[in-house]
This record gives sequence, C-alpha cells and structure tokens, in this order.
Amino acid sequence: MPRRTTRIYRPTSHNLTRLARALQRGELVATPSETVYGLAADAFNAKACRAIYTAKRRPATDPLIVHFADRRTLSELGETNELVERLARGFWPGPLTLIIRKSPRVPAIVTAGLDSVAVRMPAHPLFRQLIRAAGRPLAAPSANPFSYISPTTAEHVRDGLNGRISYILDGGACAVGVESTIVDARDPKHPVILRPGGIPAADISAALGRDIPQRDKKLGSTTAATAPGQLIRHYSPRTPVTLHAELTQRIVDAIPADEAIVAFGPTSARLATAQKNRRSFVLSPDGTGASAARGLFHLLRRLDQRKFPRIHVERAPAGDPWSAAINDRLERAAARTT
Ligand code: TXA
Ligand code: MG
Repeated sequence: MPRRTTRIYRPTSHNLTRLARALQRGELVATPSETVYGLAADAFNAKACRAIYTAKRRPATDPLIVHFADRRTLSELGETNELVERLARGFWPGPLTLIIRKSPRVPAIVTAGLDSVAVRMPAHPLFRQLIRAAGRPLAAPSANPFSYISPTTAEHVRDGLNGRISYILDGGACAVGVESTIVDARDPKHPVILRPGGIPAADISAALGRDIPQRDKKLGSTTAATAPGQLIRHYSPRTPVTLHAELTQRIVDAIPADEAIVAFGPTSARLATAQKNRRSFVLSPDGTGASAARGLFHLLRRLDQRKFPRIHVERAPAGDPWSAAINDRLERAAARTT
C-alpha cells in the first residue's frame, strides 16, 4: 500500500464538498459520528470498501456497518419489518445499528459474504452532511487499526492510521464515546442485542415493551466468521488491563505503586488518591455512566501511551444504564487472547 499524506480537515462547507468528492471517487474518509470516528467509503463501491479492510488491517471476515441519512435509502440496503420500523422510529437518527436481510445491491465485501447487513442512521450533523453531499450510503467501521481502541477524536484517528488514509474530517470529540448498540432485527419476534453500546438496552426494552436478550459473548468468541462483532479481544490497549469489581482499600493497597489505577467515580477515586505518588485516575468525575462512556477510550489511550506495567480498572456499577456497554469494552480491553 503506497504511503499517503494524512490531513485533518476542518468542517467548512468547502472541505465537506471536497471530502464528498473524494468519497465519490472511491477514496476513504474518516468522519466523526456521535459514537466514535468511522472510516467511510461508498457502500456500493466494492473496491473502495475493500480498501477499508486494508487500511485498518481488518480481516475480511468482519463485516461493516452501512450508514445512511434518509429513510428512503434503507430500502436500497435491505428488507425492513415491523420491528425495524419501530426501532427506527424510536432511535434513528442515533447510536443504534440494526442487522437486516441484505439487498443484492450491497456488495459482498461489505457484509463479509453474509446475507444480512448492518445499517445505521447516524445523528452527527457532519456525518449526515457528508453522506448527503456524497449522495450515497457510506460503509464505515470504527476508524482504528483492527483490534485497537476506537477513536473519539480526529487526532486519535491520525495516531492510528497516519500514512494509510488521506482524509480526516474533524468534528471534535464524540458525544457518546462508545460504539452503537447492535440489534439483530431480522426476526421481528426475536430481537437480540449483539453488542451493547450507545443506546442502553433498557431504553430498547422500554420502547418495545419487553425485555430483549443479549447474545452470550462466549458463543462467538472464536472467529469473526461464525459470530461477527464478537471477537473477545477487541478495543484493546497494549498495556495489560486488570478489572476489579469494586475498588476497596485492601485492593488498592495490594497494587504495586508503579501501576495505574482507574476508579469509576469520585468516591472510589478518593481511596486511590489517598496514598501519595499513586498513579490514579477517575473515569467518571460526576459518577455517571454517560460521562464514563464519553471519556473511556480517550483515557485508555492516554494511559496506554504512558506505558505503565499494568492498568487496573474498576468496573462500572450494576444499575447504571451504561454499565453493560462500558463493562463490555473493559472486558475486551482486559482479554489477552482472541
Ligand atoms: O458506532 C458505531 O457502530 C461505529 C460508527 C462508526 O458507526 N461503527 C463501528 O463499526 O463500531 P465496527 O465495524 O467497528 O463494528 C461493527 C460491528 C462489527 O464488529 C461487525 O462484526 C458487526 O458490527 N457487524 C457488521 N455487519 C454485521 C452483520 N451482518 N451481522 C452481525 N454483525 C455484523
Ligand atoms: Mg470497531
């Protein structure tokens, strides 16, 4: 792959037009979304979509999400049903991805040969403008090298993909901070959450008036081909991560002084900072899951750069609607094998 000059573009209308033209020519553009930054290509251009896998070093067995801005585009991508309609009304535009039966128009490279396709109508105004200006749906996985932590700023994208892509659209920091919730909506009677994320499961259950099961992580832990999106080691810093259900004084005292400690909220942060010279950090300064999600990937990246021998992280508490998504990412960050 020839080395490219990677540039970050401010979101002016001139630059949006320029990047939309690049997409029309089959080039890749990293774009902000409300969840994490995505690496976008024309979803109907198989060659452009193949380049996404090359740039990310992503195995071709791991399918992409197709993003669109107007409801009428959905019928070009796949089949809807009453469940899809309901979830779309409730949560689009927003951080919800639905798995539906694919239309023959979607190239096989986008879906890794599956007969289903992942679709999402994002809420981020710049992403929507880019899709509309390009005039086509955009396939986009998170804009990070495969299995590393997802990017939540334009600089994170450059850190990971410098020299491998030409265009990054700068939309500042992502408001949600973790990837979209993925729901398999093919069978209207049996929706299943495949990945917890930016829409809490409780909100989806409330909208549908019943509990939605989540796919067992262990089921799909072996290969991307049998269970896409469920590779157990994912979103991982290079530094080893150890999780703790709760930080107690005893646990904090037992952690070697050169290792980093991440408390979930302000209460346990006080425990960790009580000792001098402690490398302690807090994930959620206000104690809420929403702000923990927003800052999670940025903090993990920052700590990874500091090359601590190990990072200890307190899990998100039970009862917070964001805990499932946060703990899912933390478990993947802590997993050492695929
Ligand atoms: O918030 C997000 O979802 C971000 C932004 C950019 O939209 N995108 C994102 O994409 O996280 P990615 O590729 O990193 O994660 C999408 C996951 C993958 O793990 C993939 O395996 C799964 O969705 N997926 C895609 N198509 C699928 C399908 N047809 N069936 C099951 N899983 C699928
Ligand atoms: Mg990803």
